[in-house]
Amino acid sequence: MKKFPENFWWGAATSGPQSEGRFNKKHANVFDYHFEIEPEKFYDHVGPDVASNFYNSYQADLKMMRSIGMNSLRTSIQWSRLIDDLETNTVNEEAVAFYNNVIDAIIAEKMTPVINLHHFDLPVELYQKYGGWESEKVVELYVGFAQKCFELFGDRVKFWTTHNEPMVVVEGQYLFQFHYPNIVDSKKAVQVAYNLNLASAKAIQAFRKLALKDAQIGIVLNLTPTYAASDDPKDQEAARIAELWNNKMFLEPAVYGHFPAELEELLTKDKVLWETNDVEKEILKNNTVDFLGVNYYHPNRVKAPEIAPDSVGDWMPDRYYDAYDLPGRRVNLDRGWEIYPQALYDIALDLKENYRNIPWYVSENGMGVSNEERFKNSSGMIEDNYRIDFVREHLSWLHKGIMAGSNCFGYHMWTPIDCWSWLNAYKNRYGFISNDIHTQLKTIKKSGYWFKEVVSQNGLE
Ligand code: BG6
Repeated sequence: MKKFPENFWWGAATSGPQSEGRFNKKHANVFDYHFEIEPEKFYDHVGPDVASNFYNSYQADLKMMRSIGMNSLRTSIQWSRLIDDLETNTVNEEAVAFYNNVIDAIIAEKMTPVINLHHFDLPVELYQKYGGWESEKVVELYVGFAQKCFELFGDRVKFWTTHNEPMVVVEGQYLFQFHYPNIVDSKKAVQVAYNLNLASAKAIQAFRKLALKDAQIGIVLNLTPTYAASDDPKDQEAARIAELWNNKMFLEPAVYGHFPAELEELLTKDKVLWETNDVEKEILKNNTVDFLGVNYYHPNRVKAPEIAPDSVGDWMPDRYYDAYDLPGRRVNLDRGWEIYPQALYDIALDLKENYRNIPWYVSENGMGVSNEERFKNSSGMIEDNYRIDFVREHLSWLHKGIMAGSNCFGYHMWTPIDCWSWLNAYKNRYGFISNDIHTQLKTIKKSGYWFKEVVSQNGLE
C-alpha cells in the first residue's frame, strides 16, 4: 500500500466562471463578452450562462463531492460578480451572500475551501477602459478586489491563491490567439507577464497586512516540465529557454521574489523586456508565496528550432524551440496531450532541490475525454477506467516524489463535476461526476467511487 502523509488533501478543483453560471449580469468577464460577440468560436456554441449550474445547485453538488470522499475543494471568486463598482470596489450584496453561503457549505461538508482570485476572468470593462493586465491601474484595482475578498471571507478561508495559470493569460490573450482579445504583441505579452507577477506580489502584501489567523497564500502555476529531444547542445539550449519562459518566469518570482537573470538577459537582447522600477522590485522581493499549487497535465518536449531564431521577424518565445513528438509516446487522443505521469515525480524533486522544498500540492491534474456517454453501463454510470488508470499512475509517481522528501500536501483532480471550459465549452469531460448539460442531472462516475476508496485508505495499492 502506498500511504500518503497524514491530513493529505484529497480533492478537486473548479472555478467560478466554469461552474456557477451567469448569476449577476451587472458586469461581463472577458469570456461572457467573447461569447456575446462570437458564439461560433465556442464548441457547439455553448457559452458560460449556465456552466454546471453551481449557483443554483451548490448545496447538492457539494454533498455529492463529499460523498466521494473529497476533503478539500478549490474554486474561485469572480471579480465581475463580487464587485458592482469596479472603480471603488463596492460589492454586490447578492454575490457576497452567495459566496458566504458557498464557503459555509463547503466547511459544513467537512471540506477545506481553497479560494482562487483570478481564473482568466478579468471584467471586460477593465480591458476596454484600461487595456486589462497591460495596465498598472488594473493591477491596483485587482489588489483592491483581493483585499475585499480577504476581509469578507478570510475569517473562514485559510488557503488563498492569487492567480490560476497566469501564463495562459499571457499566451492565450497576447501571443497565440486562443483567448479574447486575441492580440498578437510580444512586447505587451511580456509586460502582462510582469504585471501579473506584480499583481500577485501586491495581493500577497495586502494579505499579510491583514494578518489573518492561520491563513496562507499561494499561486497556481501550470508547470509543464521541459524535456530536450536529445543531449545535443542545441536541443539542450532549446529546452533551457523553453523552461525559462514557460515555467521560471512565474515560478522564480513566486518563490524567490525575482525574475531569472537569464530570462531578463534574453528579453533585453531581444528588446522586449518589461518596464520595472526599484519600488516594484522590492515589492516582488518581499512578497513571495507560502505554498504553490501545481497544475500538471502533460510534459513539454522540445528540440532545436528548424529556423534559426535570429532569422525570424517578430519576437515570439517559441522561436527558440520546436515541439518534439517522442516516438512511442502515450497520448490522450481526445485532448491531444501526451500522458507522462513520471513528470509529477520530476516536478516533486525539482521543487525539493531547487525551490527550497516549498510546500506544494497538485492543484489540477486530469484527463479530458469527449463523448463519455459511450462508456455508460446499463445502470447509467460512466465506466471511466481510463481516468482511474490515469489518476492511479499519477498518484504513484507523486507518492514516489513524496517518499523522496518532496513537501507535497495534496492532490486535486480537475474537476469534481464536468464543467464548462472556455472555448472548448463542454467538449472534454474531466469530472468524477458527470453533468448532463440539458437536464443538469449529475451522476457519479466509476472514478468517483474509486477515488472514495483511495481517500478512505489515504493511499492506493
Ligand atoms: C486547465 C485550466 O489548464 O485546463 C482549466 O485551469 C481548464 O480552466 C482545464 O478547464 C481543461 O481545459 P480543456 O481545454 O481541456 O477543457
